[in-house]
Amino acid sequence: MKVLTFKTIEEIGAAAGKMFVDVVKANDKAVLGLATGATPVPTYDYMAQACRKGEVSFKNVTTFNLDEYCDLPKEHKNSYYTFMFENLFSKIDVDPANVNFLNGNAPDAQAESDRYAEAIEAAGGIDIQFLGIGRNGHIAFNEPADKFTNNAFKVHLTQSTIEANSIYFDDIPMPHYAMTMGIGSIMRAKKIVLVATGKAKAEAVRTMLSGDIDPHCPASILQAHPDCTVILDEDAASLL
Ligand code: GLP
Repeated sequence: MKVLTFKTIEEIGAAAGKMFVDVVKANDKAVLGLATGATPVPTYDYMAQACRKGEVSFKNVTTFNLDEYCDLPKEHKNSYYTFMFENLFSKIDVDPANVNFLNGNAPDAQAESDRYAEAIEAAGGIDIQFLGIGRNGHIAFNEPADKFTNNAFKVHLTQSTIEANSIYFDDIPMPHYAMTMGIGSIMRAKKIVLVATGKAKAEAVRTMLSGDIDPHCPASILQAHPDCTVILDEDAASLL
């Protein structure tokens, strides 16, 4: 894994954003794996700015988001669908027909998982995948567990994740279930960029980079990926 450390959030957004822009410049039909949370916002700002300046067009790209809450209407302000339109898709020229999400309200989670795996395969696989990391080492919504997962599945979120994410829910209680891409789906991406910022991520970053590959720290699997770049601020890197 390549580890890069920067001083400011803007530098981090530019470094990660440029990796996405470069992939799209090299192949305008690239398949992008996208994430939600506070971490990707500066990266999405960089991508939006590059598009506005005419440096890159996302017109022909296809996107797949990592995860989505269950039991939450797609249009709710806290759905990851809404997040992506507010923070990226409304600011770039992507074709809304080419953006893909797991349906957290699908009646049959297994059928929804199969549909997503087939759609990713039909698109030619993910060229570049953005990841954040949870305080407990989760990636997407792959929580610490006894074994690594493969394709998408429905997950019962851990207390740590519920506590971290419930600050965003001021009208209804946060859902306790989500649909998430599995570790196998993430590891099949050709290139991975994981960004972590802030002291609260320092322990998870340390375990991811220097612990054993262990499903109790799901992000540790990235040690086995052939092209993974980890981009940190000084706080997130403080225990390395
Ligand atoms: C959620 C998302 C993850 C994200 C994590 C960290 O649980 N499912 O994809 O990486 O939160 O979020 P943040 O970037 O807000 O710290």
